Amino acid sequence: MAEHSNLPASPDAGGHDEAAHGALDYGTRDERGRFILPLEEHHQRITDVDPRAAKRAERQVAWLFVAGAACFAGAVAAFVGFSSHELIHVPMLGNVSASNFWLGTLIGLGSFFLGAAAIHWARRLMPGDEAVDYRHSLRGDEDSRASAIEQFKRGAAESGFLSRPLVRRTMLGAMALFPLPLVVLLADLGPAPKEKLRHTMWGDKPATRIINQGSGELVRPEHLAVGGLINAIPEGLEKVEEEAGTQNERAKSSIILVRMNPSEIKAQQGQGWDYQGILAYSKICTHVGCPISLYQQRTHALLCPCHQSTFDLSDAGRVVFGPAARHMPQLRIGVDSEGYLVSLGDFAEPVGPSFWERG
Ligand code: FES
Repeated sequence: MAEHSNLPASPDAGGHDEAAHGALDYGTRDERGRFILPLEEHHQRITDVDPRAAKRAERQVAWLFVAGAACFAGAVAAFVGFSSHELIHVPMLGNVSASNFWLGTLIGLGSFFLGAAAIHWARRLMPGDEAVDYRHSLRGDEDSRASAIEQFKRGAAESGFLSRPLVRRTMLGAMALFPLPLVVLLADLGPAPKEKLRHTMWGDKPATRIINQGSGELVRPEHLAVGGLINAIPEGLEKVEEEAGTQNERAKSSIILVRMNPSEIKAQQGQGWDYQGILAYSKICTHVGCPISLYQQRTHALLCPCHQSTFDLSDAGRVVFGPAARHMPQLRIGVDSEGYLVSLGDFAEPVGPSFWERG
């Protein structure tokens, strides 16, 4: 195969027909026969030739790092300063949680400033020479390894990491604050949420009326035939959610009402917690929290569609199948003086996944 002095084959081209490349000029070869890429002429940047411009760029980089650090500190302050119920109005988004809004905004801005500082530093202050790096086997020979160490040292010196203490210190400060908001957010995994999950709207009053989630009507015992099921929520939930702007209460307070013959009830979580065979259970699966309303009236089995946990509602909500580790919490119910179904207190235990109960 003919060798063209200025039409090199790539080092691993093997038997490729170089003639097929026609007259394309990829460059020339060096003394070891390696292909040399044609590089454009190098242009000096203003920071290469003007020390005052370099100093100005250095201050800009430092300010960007300082802005990043301020944003991360602000994110921590927002997490501590706003309660989870505080709302702010944001155009196009409506009412959103103030804590979430400022956390997201400040962490996003902080990351942007950190990235901008790194890019500005690299583009303005680090060496801007063009270079070609050839492919080679993964382990270099001793010369290459020594040369790599030498280059690393030279790179460290040329980057200015050691000679520019202002940039170095502000960068280290910003990097130190960068993980702080993420660590602070872990506080949400601590013991505090346990209390929030323990309380639902059912416990706000001694007798909270139950409304049908579909029709919005108050539920009376005669609305539910034996074998039937109603998805229900506490009266006043709509108002609470409108004020708080969240779906938190709905997630915790949703229940299902089922009716069976009292003689079919094997056990309950409290003596006489049903009303004439009507039982109220949380609608939130105790595995990982999917809402459930798949009910088989013949077996009294409540089946979660997510991972098939099955609860026996005639036997105190016991788990009979699937990954859920805890029975479905039951709500004690009765009727008020006007004959409407009401809750008689809150759930006796937190609803939803059982993670928080682990010691
Ligand atoms: S969420 Fe119900 S079984 Fe997993």
